[in-house]
This record gives sequence, structure tokens and C-alpha cells, in this order.
Amino acid sequence: MKSKLKDFHHYKGSGLTRFEKVEKKVIEHILSTKIPDQNREDSQTFEFLHASGCMQVGKILAQKRNLDVNLAGTACVLHDIFVIINGTYKNHGIEGAAIAEKILREIGGFPEEEIRIITQAVAHHSEKEVKSNDPYTELVKDADVFENSLYKNAEGFYRIHKPPHIFQKYVKRIIKVRNELNLPEKPIFQ
Ligand SMILES: [Fe+2]
Repeated sequence: MKSKLKDFHHYKGSGLTRFEKVEKKVIEHILSTKIPDQNREDSQTFEFLHASGCMQVGKILAQKRNLDVNLAGTACVLHDIFVIINGTYKNHGIEGAAIAEKILREIGGFPEEEIRIITQAVAHHSEKEVKSNDPYTELVKDADVFENSLYKNAEGFYRIHKPPHIFQKYVKRIIKVRNELNLPEKPIFQ
């Protein structure tokens, strides 16, 4: 009997979904950058790990929250697209939303509502101290801080670069995600 199971494409060939095409595009941007690590605020390696890591965390959180896994993954993989392309975090949320929209429209097939959800999440993901009414924006914020918490010394980075009250909001989000995923309470940072 012939199996109906399809082989996983491993991101090769022409059988990618629109969501997978975005994922591939983001990785291609990271790999093809002309801005060397010494001129970037973080490294190509970190951007690769963080984009991929946030995407997968976002897909897990989407399942926990009954949200669309593909939409969540796409918003997450695109959230730092401005940093990936420009090497700097300055205004990266708002400016990244325009780049994300361009990518989504070029790839095509995304309904307007999906474009709105994804670009809003990219635009506002840095506002960790704000609780948005949009579940995808909240998901991207949570995936972003939680994924960051898994890197050694991320705590030190946050403590140096964020005012104390904002740092506490980050910690609150990380604890919330750890609870949601049934992880032990500690360590909050790895
Ligand atoms: Fe991020």
C-alpha cells in the first residue's frame, strides 16, 4: 500500500508554505548580511539562534494559548527583522514592522488580517512593560524575553541596559512563561 505520508522538505524545493517561506527569508537575510559582527549590536550567530529560538518558543506558546501556531511563529521569526538587516536595535520594533510587511507582501498569500496581526506584533514587541490586548503581540513579547533568559549572562545584560522597573517587568514575564510551561520556578535566568 502506498503511504500518504509526505516527506518533510527540510526547507528545500518549491513545496514550502507561505509561513515557511518567511522563515527561510529571515534566515537568508541573516546569512547574507554585509554588516560584520564588529559593526552590529549583536552577532550574526545570536540573530540566527534568537530568531529560530523565538519562533519555536512562539509555536509552543501558541499551542498552550490556543492561538494559530503558524501566525505566532511568523510574528516571532520576524520580530527583530530590523536588527537583522541594519545591525542596530534603535527603533527596531516600529521600523521592523514596515520591513516585515514588505516581506509578507512579496511572499504573498497572507490575508490582510494576518499582515495586520504580524506587523502589530513586530511593531510593539519591545513594549514589555505594556500589556497589550492583542494575544499575538503578548506572545511575541513573552517568547522574546523567555528565549533570551536561556542565554548565559542575559540577566546581566538586562540589568545593565534596562531601568530597574522595566527589568522587573521582564522578570515577571519570564516567571509567567515558566509557570505556563510547567518549568521549575528557578532559575529565572540560565
Ligand atoms: Fe528579540
